[in-house]
Amino acid sequence: VAPVPPQAPMLNFKQVSVSSGDAIVVPEGYVAEAFVPWGTPLVKGAPAWKPDGSNTGADQALQMGDNHDGMHYFPIGGTNSSEGLLVMNHEYINPEYFFAYEPGQTDVFGTWTLDKVRKAQHAHGVSVVHIKKDAAGKWQLVVGSAYNRRIHGNTPMLMTGPAAGHALLKTSADPFGSYAFGTLNNCGNGYTPWGSYITCEENFNGYFGTTVSGASQTALMKRYGLSSGRSGYRWEDFDNRFDWSKEPNESNRFGWIVEIDPFDPTSTPKKRTALGRFKHENAAYAIAADGRVVVYMGDDQAGEFVYKFVSDGKYDAANPTAPTNRNLLESGKLYVARFSDGTTKGDSMGTGEWLLLDKEANASLKADSTLPDQASVLINARQAGTVAGATPMDRPEWVSVHPTTKEVYLTLTNNSGRSTTDDANPRTSNVYGQIIRWRETGGDAAALTFEWDHFVLAGNPSATPLKSAGSSNINAGNTFNSPDGLAFDHDGRLWIQTDGSAANTGNYAGQGNNQMLVADPKTREIRRFLVGPSGCEITGITFTPDMKTLFINVQHPGELGSHPNRPTIPTGTSADVYTLQNPLVFSKWPDANGGRPRSATVIITKADGGKIGS
Ligand code: FEO
Ligand code: CA
Ligand code: CA
Repeated sequence: VAPVPPQAPMLNFKQVSVSSGDAIVVPEGYVAEAFVPWGTPLVKGAPAWKPDGSNTGADQALQMGDNHDGMHYFPIGGTNSSEGLLVMNHEYINPEYFFAYEPGQTDVFGTWTLDKVRKAQHAHGVSVVHIKKDAAGKWQLVVGSAYNRRIHGNTPMLMTGPAAGHALLKTSADPFGSYAFGTLNNCGNGYTPWGSYITCEENFNGYFGTTVSGASQTALMKRYGLSSGRSGYRWEDFDNRFDWSKEPNESNRFGWIVEIDPFDPTSTPKKRTALGRFKHENAAYAIAADGRVVVYMGDDQAGEFVYKFVSDGKYDAANPTAPTNRNLLESGKLYVARFSDGTTKGDSMGTGEWLLLDKEANASLKADSTLPDQASVLINARQAGTVAGATPMDRPEWVSVHPTTKEVYLTLTNNSGRSTTDDANPRTSNVYGQIIRWRETGGDAAALTFEWDHFVLAGNPSATPLKSAGSSNINAGNTFNSPDGLAFDHDGRLWIQTDGSAANTGNYAGQGNNQMLVADPKTREIRRFLVGPSGCEITGITFTPDMKTLFINVQHPGELGSHPNRPTIPTGTSADVYTLQNPLVFSKWPDANGGRPRSATVIITKADGGKIGS
């Protein structure tokens, strides 16, 4: 019998310590460099970024957007690891860092103008960035490339699928309910085997408010959390489509999965209504046993649900860019998950089923007169999930599918307000979050039942409340809170990114800034790989095919919130104005002399040119 060759360890790097500093920390032997920060000139004719924040709305439409989030690397030509399209989301803006400072201003908006509204809208959406390694092996933005593109909050796009044309999608600008303007709050992402990029619209509700006092909201607006008065972004002051009392259906045109062809800069993005409307986090695909395409999706709010879409058509793997493949997200079945405790209570495992959200085939939905047709079911997916009997979860964030076992992993980031428990969501006042995983029956992504268990309950061994220490794979060395971004690499390592408290005290003592960890799915070992600068979250993750470059995003460095380095707000100063001026800015990452913090991509390589994590 031939000896079994020794297996290289899955996690072959030295864990980094927690940090509360204003810098990126990576393991020994690794290099991390900031790339394409907010405002970088991208599209032909784009002006330079102005550190004083005085770029206009027109400038912003040609520059990198803000709050870099989900991201995917598309090789140009097969498996090219030296040239590709880096496509990324821009989730939102931080007004305290986004506009030029005006002496004496009394809030973060300053003199409020239509151009500032447009600038904010243009900083949302997606960037398609053509990148290439130079002769020295350093990644560069390909200046002037025809691939470079900005898609933003005013870019025309098509409404497609079963809800397109429905009365709930019609507005004064679009009496047909068939074309929308822009994409917003682009959080996590997905990609497809036929080469398209998926951007996921999350907290769209935050952009809608009303200047009309006493206006009343529909049940639909309330379920998705539209502000009953003014919005935090104040776009309704100059743009009626964000005033829900003036354009009551405009908000129904957000909260969708949007599919983009990054290789065709003239292509029109498509909102895919067959995948349901909710606060989409990301979208992870799998191919079912019979060739149908399955897309797993979370709805990031406390007590909301996990969904999966199963296409009607089958994926033609022999001909990836076939027109039939490109339209697979046009029609299919939408399911929502019910997680059951299984035979034993309290054992961090159980069973589950996928409940079909179909107006005719689901008896509960058929009997519900508030959802009169299938388009209403998709537009009101949350309510449909409640009617169907889905399990309220601890904020479903990113989903990722293991490259070989097809086991599905999902982050449940936290739910401090949880008062009752079930096995899948086992802690009240859950400030740390957990990662749950499931195995579809028969290993078929289209199956209607599954078994689940917890991969990790995040926690803190130095905090004492019941179960807060987390599961056995959490220790004083790798403690973290609020898992959010999640992705398997090509070799099956599980990368975990956090967006939680950086207070580093109390429940969060010893956890430092937001971070990225790596796990071995077999042994369940977790090691910290990276710590981010002050006030940021770590999000977005993609690799080159050769696994020698890792791209991540540092989102909103310096953002308000609890952080030990946050300056004390001077007495009498409103909390929302203090970040505008130096020296009160408590992060300057990535340019120490840049004057204000900026979201940016981070390129991580191994100094010896080896594979990441190996
Ligand atoms: Fe945009 Fe749930 O994070
Ligand atoms: Ca159980
Ligand atoms: Ca997120």
